[in-house]
Amino acid sequence: MSQVSRDPWLLTPGPLTTSLSVKQAMLHDWGSRDEAFIAINARVREKLVAIAGGGDDFVCVPMQGSGTFSIEAAIGTLLPANGRALILINGAYGKRMAKICDYYGRSYEVLAWPEDVPNDARAVDARLAAEPALTHVFGVHCETTSGILNPVEEIAKVVAAHGRQYVIDAMSSFGAIELDAGKTPFAAAVASSNKCLEGVPGVGFIIVRKDILAACEGNAPSLSLDFYDQWRAMEANAQWRFTPPVHCIAAFEQALREHEAEGGVAGRGRRYRRNCRVLVEGMRALGFATLLPDALQAPIIVTFHMPADPAFEFNAFYRKLHERGYIIYPGKLTVADSFRIGCIGRLGEAQMKAALEAIKTTLDEMGVRQCAPAVPDPAEA
Ligand SMILES: Cc1ncc(COP(=O)(O)O)c(C=O)c1O
Repeated sequence: MSQVSRDPWLLTPGPLTTSLSVKQAMLHDWGSRDEAFIAINARVREKLVAIAGGGDDFVCVPMQGSGTFSIEAAIGTLLPANGRALILINGAYGKRMAKICDYYGRSYEVLAWPEDVPNDARAVDARLAAEPALTHVFGVHCETTSGILNPVEEIAKVVAAHGRQYVIDAMSSFGAIELDAGKTPFAAAVASSNKCLEGVPGVGFIIVRKDILAACEGNAPSLSLDFYDQWRAMEANAQWRFTPPVHCIAAFEQALREHEAEGGVAGRGRRYRRNCRVLVEGMRALGFATLLPDALQAPIIVTFHMPADPAFEFNAFYRKLHERGYIIYPGKLTVADSFRIGCIGRLGEAQMKAALEAIKTTLDEMGVRQCAPAVPDPAEA
């Protein structure tokens, strides 16, 4: 039983804690042809293009489902059967893009780095120069597996210089870390409602250059996950092809208003950076070690090494923190035993400090004295 009466604070990569006003925006019913809903949908699409600095050359097309549905729709729609993708992998979400290509029978190759090493634009440059058959580059902005930030601006310039198309999974960064089409020449970026934009889960979207999407008719191997068809239908009658997630879109509009009121990407990023700093400093003061050095850390989610102290057991730690009102996240790394704590969602410095207090009390209760990770055995190196 939880010791607190409110919903727990979600210190995770999503779904995330949302504001009361975002939840309240869902207290209505709309039909899919309802004029009020159609107007909300149009405003949400326009605002998302504006957040990406997209201008008239770009369009936002939403898609029902979690973020992965939109990633899959983007790959299926943009990468034709005779194309070939270079997939940049330093974590689980890069790997997932390769898996989607496998499902769709699309041709690809991989450039891979360890989970604690960012994508390197020079390697992308060399590979594109060597392989003219590569038509697309797929990469992740913030690899949520570790919390590492990849240099998308540098990579986008390299990809554009080679005349190829760069498709960015900006799921966990969009809205808090700048992705400006004017500086980062991407073909398409994909994200969802429920991460840094602080809406509720249920819708993803692509922000894509219109000329590129216009050339994608017939590419998608899936009807429901065809961004071209979704776009054409929405342009024709302003409606969704299939049942729209009306409540989710209404909540999204409210979330976007709150994003703007906070100062847009700069304001949202500032709060998350503060959350991240408070978290990292507090955890280091308790003896925990972060996977990443500060220079590579995105202010989204932080990976901590598992303490070596035998009194530390992650499931018990998780459960006790939940009882105190905080949900954290297991690790997803292949290179180290770890867990993660997020800094995004409708929470600030006060909640991060209170979470640190709860962590300290929990560690005392578990009898954990040392939070440092095991020192690697040089014989195993
Ligand atoms: C970078 C990235 N890509 C894709 C996804 C997949 O999104 P979803 O879990 O909403 O399908 C996530 C989810 O955390 C993510 O962080």
